[in-house]
Amino acid sequence: MSSQGLEGVVAAKTSLSKVIGDEGRLIYAGYEIGDLAENVSFEEVCYLLWNGELPNATELEGIGRELGEARRLHPGVLEVLRLLPTDIHPMAALRTGLSAAGNFDPEAEDDSLEANRRKAVRITGQICSISTAYERLRHGADPVEADPERGLAEDVLRMLTGSAPGELEAHIMDVALILHADHGLNASTFSARVTVATLADMYSAIVSAIGTLKGPLHGGANQRVMRMLMDIGDAAAAGDWIRGALERKERIMGFGHRVYKALDPRAPILKALARELGRERGESRWIDISEAANAVMRDEMDARGKKIYANVDFYSAAVYYTLGVPVDQFTNVFAISRASGWTANVLEQLADNRLIRPKAEYVGPLGKRVAPLGERA
Ligand code: COA
Repeated sequence: MSSQGLEGVVAAKTSLSKVIGDEGRLIYAGYEIGDLAENVSFEEVCYLLWNGELPNATELEGIGRELGEARRLHPGVLEVLRLLPTDIHPMAALRTGLSAAGNFDPEAEDDSLEANRRKAVRITGQICSISTAYERLRHGADPVEADPERGLAEDVLRMLTGSAPGELEAHIMDVALILHADHGLNASTFSARVTVATLADMYSAIVSAIGTLKGPLHGGANQRVMRMLMDIGDAAAAGDWIRGALERKERIMGFGHRVYKALDPRAPILKALARELGRERGESRWIDISEAANAVMRDEMDARGKKIYANVDFYSAAVYYTLGVPVDQFTNVFAISRASGWTANVLEQLADNRLIRPKAEYVGPLGKRVAPLGERA
């Protein structure tokens, strides 16, 4: 019996994150997501995923410094980025950039545990700088150099926009990164595991994951949500817009989830942050439209008896846009965060590896004979 989309199939054991879909809960290594979002930094979450425990003060200082150093780009990677067309998707630039970075990493093919742990840090740092450097280059500006003294979230916003963010902006970015760090056996994490299970190197695994995250049914959804909010244009227009799209049998981006059949616990956290940021910036238009669209979706889905709720991407759109992140960089911000989970999953896969190789149910014809070339239709 085949399972389309592998729904319900358990293909790995993990101690990294647990999604309890019908209760709307997400847990990283024992900690509820809300507890982490309120009390730790993204660097602490990285450490938690890579080590299974939260860091003490000395360890936190160490991982912060390592992640800071890891954000420095090799000149060869910058040269590759400079060669890219300026109109490609930033996720395509990231895919190429990280692949290039692997070629400049002397430990790329060293598959010892120690080297792989160092690469997990390096890859996470490099993903920050490749995405932000491409943003500058495509607009004819020089990349902003990483500042290892700053927190990762703050530095990412600074490298992306060219100016240091305020405290609230940096905090909100930090929380957004925490919320996206890991999420069970999601499609991109599965890709990373499949690749590394062949004993390919960690860079290859993460490049696979980047390609998978790019799609609109996965990480690409947040960018489409923003386009939808722009198209709706005004909170008062949300009802007609959503009902029209549903009548045309279109999917509303930012709603629904393969695993959550209750509210995604990350959505209300992002919603509150979007509201706070909107107030501070005097720009609440996007969160107003988001809330109006969500209210209509709730009624429409209730009326159809479907358990479809807003997911993490829905409110991250308003948050990122108000933070000044260009719309087509939304998925790259997701990748910056998920790099921590991808690399942690790679380490976990390698600790107890088995080639991942499911079967396909053959539904094609049998018994055909090869006709000579000249006799074929
Ligand atoms: N808008 C409208 N209807 C939706 C919907 C959405 N975003 N998501 C699911 N549905 C409907 C489907 O049309 C389907 O209805 P049907 O049973 O009448 O055919 C039903 O809900 C189940 O959908 P299904 O495609 O089986 O769910 P899935 O588990 O395969 O898909 C997603 C999950 C995430 C791919 C899907 O919800 C989606 O496309 N969402 C939009 C993209 C998105 O936000 N992705 C980010 C996920 S974090």
